[in-house]
Amino acid sequence: MALVTGGELAAAVSRAGGLGIIGGGYAGTLGGEPDLEAEIARAKPTRFGVGFITWALERAPAMLTMALRHSPYCVFLSFGDPRPFAAEIREAGALLICQVQMLSQIDVALEAGAAVIVVQGAEAGGHGALRSTFPFVPEAADYLKKRSPQTLLIAAGGIADGRGLAAALMLGADGVLVGTRLWASAEALTPKAHTDKALGATGDCTIRTKVLDALRGVPWPREYSFRFLRNGLTDKWAARESEAFRAFASLSEDYARARARNDLEMVAVTCGEAVGLLNDRPTAESVVTSMAAQAADILQKGAELTFP
Ligand SMILES: Cc1cc2nc3c(=O)[nH]c(=O)nc-3n(C[C@H](O)[C@H](O)[C@H](O)COP(=O)(O)O)c2cc1C
Repeated sequence: MALVTGGELAAAVSRAGGLGIIGGGYAGTLGGEPDLEAEIARAKPTRFGVGFITWALERAPAMLTMALRHSPYCVFLSFGDPRPFAAEIREAGALLICQVQMLSQIDVALEAGAAVIVVQGAEAGGHGALRSTFPFVPEAADYLKKRSPQTLLIAAGGIADGRGLAAALMLGADGVLVGTRLWASAEALTPKAHTDKALGATGDCTIRTKVLDALRGVPWPREYSFRFLRNGLTDKWAARESEAFRAFASLSEDYARARARNDLEMVAVTCGEAVGLLNDRPTAESVVTSMAAQAADILQKGAELTFP
C-alpha cells in the first residue's frame, strides 16, 4: 500500500507468519512518498517484499534496481505491463507477484514469469477496476488450473477477517492479500485522523471513482479508478466524471494545500468496502493471527457439519 506500508508494518506481518510487502507506490514520482530505502532498512532482517505501481515505475526504473540491491523476497507489480521488469527481478533472485484486475491480464503476468497472481476485486481500497472478488477468484482459479497449475492464486478485495479468508480458500485461492484491514493497524503509516474517520464509517461510505486522480492531476490509465471514503469532493464531482477529466490537474494545488492541513473533506481517506468490518486499530500480528484462527475455526466447523 503506497504511503501506508512502511518497513515496520511489513516486518510485523512477516513475523506473524504472513508476507509483508513495503509500498514502493509511485516509485518516488508522486511527491510526498516515504523514503523507500529507509523503509526497507526498517524491515530488515525480517523477510519482506517491495511493491510498485507498474506504470509509475516505468518513469523511475532505478527504484527497482535500488530495491533489488536489498534482496527482497518478492517484487509485487500492479497496474501496467510487468514484462519489461521481469528479467531484472528474476536475475536478482526475487519472486514476481503480479496483481491483476481482469482475467485478460493473467496471460501477460504468466508471460512475465509471475510465481503468484493476485486477483483484485473492485471492493478493494485504493486503485482497482470493475471485477468483483466473488466470481473473479473462481474464474481465475479455473483458468490457472488449465494454463499454469503451479502458479499460486491470491484473492484481494474485501477480505478483512477469517470469514473472508475462509471464503477465498473455498473459491479456489491459495491465500489472500489484505489491504484495508492492515491500513488500520498499529504499525501502518496511515494518519490517525484517517483511521478515526474510517472507524465510524460503514461499507456504504466508500466510492470508486476516477474524478480524484483527474482533478489532482495523477495520470492513471483510464481503466483504473480509486476507492476511498466519500467526502465533500466526491459529493461535488463524482457524477461529473467527463467534466473532471476536462479539468485535469485543476485542483492539484488546492489538493496539496488540503493535504497539508489534513482537510478530509477534500483529501482521500483510502480504504475499501471492508472498512465496515473495522472497529479498532490492532497490531498487525493480531490481525494475521486472528484471521487465520477464525478461518481455521470456520472451516473446521464446516467439515464437522458435513462429516459429523
Ligand atoms: C491505502 C491503500 C493503498 C494501496 N496502494 C496500493 C499500491 O500502491 N499498489 C497496489 O498495487 N495496490 C495498492 N492498494 C491495493 C491493494 O494492493 C489491495 O489490492 C487491496 O488493498 C485489497 O483490498 P482490501 O483493501 O479490501 O483489503 C492499496 C490499497 C489501500 C487500501
